Amino acid sequence: MKMDDNIDWNIFFDIHKDLPRQGCGRDKYTEKAFNMIPPIINPNILDIGCGPGLQTIHLAKISSGKIIGIDIHQPFLDQLNKLVKKEKLIKKISTINKSMFNMDFQKNFFGIIWAEGSIFIIGFERGLKEWKKYLKPKVFLAVHEMTWLKHNPPKAIRDYWNDVYPDINTIEYNLEIVSKCGYNLIDYFPLPEDAWWKFYYNPLEERLQKMRIKYINIKNAFDLIESEQKEIDLYRKNYKWYGSVFFIMQKI
Ligand SMILES: C[S@@+](CC[C@H](N)C(=O)[O-])C[C@H]1O[C@@H](n2cnc3c(N)ncnc32)[C@H](O)[C@@H]1O
Repeated sequence: MKMDDNIDWNIFFDIHKDLPRQGCGRDKYTEKAFNMIPPIINPNILDIGCGPGLQTIHLAKISSGKIIGIDIHQPFLDQLNKLVKKEKLIKKISTINKSMFNMDFQKNFFGIIWAEGSIFIIGFERGLKEWKKYLKPKVFLAVHEMTWLKHNPPKAIRDYWNDVYPDINTIEYNLEIVSKCGYNLIDYFPLPEDAWWKFYYNPLEERLQKMRIKYINIKNAFDLIESEQKEIDLYRKNYKWYGSVFFIMQKI
């Protein structure tokens, strides 16, 4: 879906309220990426665009570190804070309402920066460049980013993504950016299909059904609902062509 100024954000957040995740991902893939990082004791971890934070919770469980989750939508942070209490992780996770465009953390502070499905907001290259200063030397950045999985996608898919997210690139192109920005690649892997369905598209699609009834005859709501449905339908048919690819990197 195109995140532009024409969106009615009240309706957008009504659709997205209390969903388990706000993008694709699953604990087992967070863990797979985390396990690619060499062992690191008590790292300070920054989770950028943490949203409702299922990955934040899982990171807290599998690492010995302390995590700061940042996001600009307070209801997502509230959702995460509730989970933090429920899972008794108050000593390991804190949240801050802060924009990734406006970070003022101490330089060389973090041992790991994590961003699941959120680096697109600042842009893959800009994020890699700007976030680097907050990492200690030789430590780690893990993000997943919408990426073409095969060359020469059919025109309809290309047109859709050129409109919605024109910065979508190939794996090879993103790997060049990784090295250009001063990181060594540790590994990468595309999130499998189930990472899209189980905690994101399935609950979202169910929500869209309810929203069609709630917002019946309201044109801008209808347009928003159908544009989200279009994204889901496109993925259902074309998941082999694009997806979110985890890149696990080490600052040089
Ligand atoms: C696609 S969602 C991913 C959320 C979460 N990482 C997940 O996987 O469920 C992107 C998140 O980035 C947040 N976001 C949007 N603009 C932001 C900004 N400028 N700074 C920090 N977070 C932002 C949104 O509120 C949302 O929670």
